[in-house]
Amino acid sequence: MKNLRELLEHEVRELFATECQLMEALPKILRTSLQSSLKQTLQDYLGETHLQIIRLEKVAKLLGISLESAEKCEGMKLLLEEVFSIIQDEPDPELVDAVLFCMAQKVEHYEIVGYGTARHFARLLGEEEVATLLGATLEEEEKEPMANPTLSTTAKSHVNEWSTHRTQPVRKEALVVPLFTGLGWLTH
Ligand SMILES: [Fe+2]
Repeated sequence: MKNLRELLEHEVRELFATECQLMEALPKILRTSLQSSLKQTLQDYLGETHLQIIRLEKVAKLLGISLESAEKCEGMKLLLEEVFSIIQDEPDPELVDAVLFCMAQKVEHYEIVGYGTARHFARLLGEEEVATLLGATLEEEEKEPMANPTLSTTAKSHVNEWSTHRTQPVRKEALVVPLFTGLGWLTH
């Protein structure tokens, strides 16, 4: 990588890979979520992701780059692998929802940083049309319920209620402690 333009192109490819990986994973994730409010949110997210992929294709056209060579985003790959490794063991449904809340929030903030950075680079390079397209997606990401503290509060109370009423030890207890203590939405 030699200059800012190449860095922008790299970021656009990475964002494209991220959205495509989500597009592939979300239908499977949707089938595991038993909480209806979360299901609808993820369903909406899937539709939005599709539109964001189309927008990135326009960005690539404006920059004159191909997205075919976009490699999988390693960060997103690990994040999704982590989620699937937990839910494939079929823990309690409430725990699945807690894991998905956590995943969705991580993804959301990952994307907000990615789009925000790419838009900044585009502006510095005078690529106004590209900056506008990236900015449109950034706005959508920031409005996503998962980036919203209100939904985070809902998640918190849902999980707290579940843990308060449990009488039996949690089968995946070893996973719960590190997961919950690492979550901003449970400590704010
Ligand atoms: Fe997205």
